[in-house]
Amino acid sequence: MSEGGTDRYGVMGYPVSHSRSPVIHRLFALQTNQDIQYELLQVPPDKLEAAISQFGRTGGKGLNITVPHKSEVARLVDELSERASVAGAVNTVVFNDGTLFGDNTDGVGLMRDLQINHGLRLKGANILILGAGGATRGIVSPLLEAEPGSIVIANRTFPKARSLADHFANQGPVNACRFEDVRSLPIYDLIINATSAGLKGETPPYPEEAVHPATFCYDLSYGSTPTPFSKWAARHGAAKSVMGWGMLVEQAAESFEIWRGVRPDTGPVLKQLTVTIG
Ligand code: ATR
Repeated sequence: MSEGGTDRYGVMGYPVSHSRSPVIHRLFALQTNQDIQYELLQVPPDKLEAAISQFGRTGGKGLNITVPHKSEVARLVDELSERASVAGAVNTVVFNDGTLFGDNTDGVGLMRDLQINHGLRLKGANILILGAGGATRGIVSPLLEAEPGSIVIANRTFPKARSLADHFANQGPVNACRFEDVRSLPIYDLIINATSAGLKGETPPYPEEAVHPATFCYDLSYGSTPTPFSKWAARHGAAKSVMGWGMLVEQAAESFEIWRGVRPDTGPVLKQLTVTIG
């Protein structure tokens, strides 16, 4: 417990200065009348374990974990939720009398943004995921739960796509290919960019054949200006091209509910955030 009854939370990353999580959680706290403080914690990989224990020892109640620490924290916690274990990554830590519980709200955050905020119907949909790293690993299982018609994972390095597709094959129809082997059929209802190329300002040769006039394109990355993928998708005639601001706010709401037991209303916060950045 911290001074004056204010509970401490924060986001740990490296770098972390760009993170919008403090703004989002402060808005949630105001809206739901919760007395919390939320800090930005810049922690290099070699100091991660020590920083997490110190945060807990000094009264911290919960943490969000961001790049590049998510998979390392999955190894550090005492207990993992089923979804964090499947994702192999933790974005939410709960401190509970000296034990660490790790959860992952990224997948559910994406699903809420796609299905509720954007009204997408995923049952029977054909989905193409670009990239086969940690971000993809975290979203395949929640996407499969929506019973899509098919998921194809396309990656620059084919064996990584193959091994992820094999890993999830017992849960539903998942396949793998190289970018250059993506075809115009099936018609993709949804293309998700889960590569980290945009973070480096790169636009790889994404498969333009996959973009049909009915395709909804979603970039897990976000920025104050359109990301390279969202520009690429709009240029190739996608029905809609959006960035992952909604997923960011939705995953934060899930974390907030885990910590505080109250569910914030994400709509006004998402609106405020996108107005501020826009
Ligand atoms: P994360 O955990 O954020 O997913 P990661 O595990 O390093 O990060 O995975 C990054 C993903 O982005 C990988 O699929 C990577 O492709 P490779 O497996 O071929 O490396 C993809 N990626 C990153 N930069 C890319 C680029 N310039 N072109 C194509 N793919 C890229």
